[in-house]
Amino acid sequence: MNKIKSILILSLVLTIGLVSCDSGNIRRTPGHIYAPDMTYSRAYDAYTSNPNFTDSMTSRLPVTGAIARGHQLPDHLKEGDTTAYKTFTTSMRFNDGELNEGRRLFNIYCGICHGTNLDGQGPLYASGKFASMPANFKDPKYLHMSVGQMFAAAKYGKNMMGSYAAQLDAKQRWMVIAYIKQFQSKNGGDAFALGETAAKPVADTTKAPMMAKVEEKKTK
Ligand code: HEC
Repeated sequence: MNKIKSILILSLVLTIGLVSCDSGNIRRTPGHIYAPDMTYSRAYDAYTSNPNFTDSMTSRLPVTGAIARGHQLPDHLKEGDTTAYKTFTTSMRFNDGELNEGRRLFNIYCGICHGTNLDGQGPLYASGKFASMPANFKDPKYLHMSVGQMFAAAKYGKNMMGSYAAQLDAKQRWMVIAYIKQFQSKNGGDAFALGETAAKPVADTTKAPMMAKVEEKKTK
């Protein structure tokens, strides 16, 4: 009886041992899978090809005209349309914190040329390495410049000055301009109109050109 038992146990151990031995081949199939749709996605994965679209891409672009959450509406300014620059404005109004931020950004991005005193004598120009004189914001020529023209300069650049659209988003550009305008108001410029308590513009210049045309027709 004991002999049979030990033979049985021995053969059992042998079988288990042999079965657990690797055959030497690498197995690519996992055998049975619990919940296979967790391993193999039934939806199209982001970078897999997709027969439902002509370009066979699963990742789709956002719908044209879509604006990401937290981002602003486009301003409809056209580069070079200097007439539109003059009347372009914003309904944004800025508190002291935002004006301080405007100064900080100005000193980072504009001060090198326009000078932290806004007199056009920034270190780059003063060093003689930059040929073109940056705008002196204390000069009567710029004291009364419209905010739209300033915005356009920051967005598209002006002659030797490059565009700052990639460094400053629209709100940051307006904060910088508000800072310049507040500074100018204290140095012989017009009364500061972009402060928190100032009135918002009546005319909506942010309207799309299409809408402006529709309204123009209506009034004709
Ligand atoms: C690399 C030097 C440089 C930097 C940096 C620079 N500017 Fe200028 N900026 C100039 C020069 C030069 C002019 C004069 C352009 C002209 O009229 O030929 C100018 C002109 C301007 C004008 C007048 C535009 C006009 O229509 O006459 C404004 C407004 C202005 N800059 C704002 C800014 C702001 C805001 C920044 C920072 C975001 C900035 N600039 C950064 C060089 C610079």
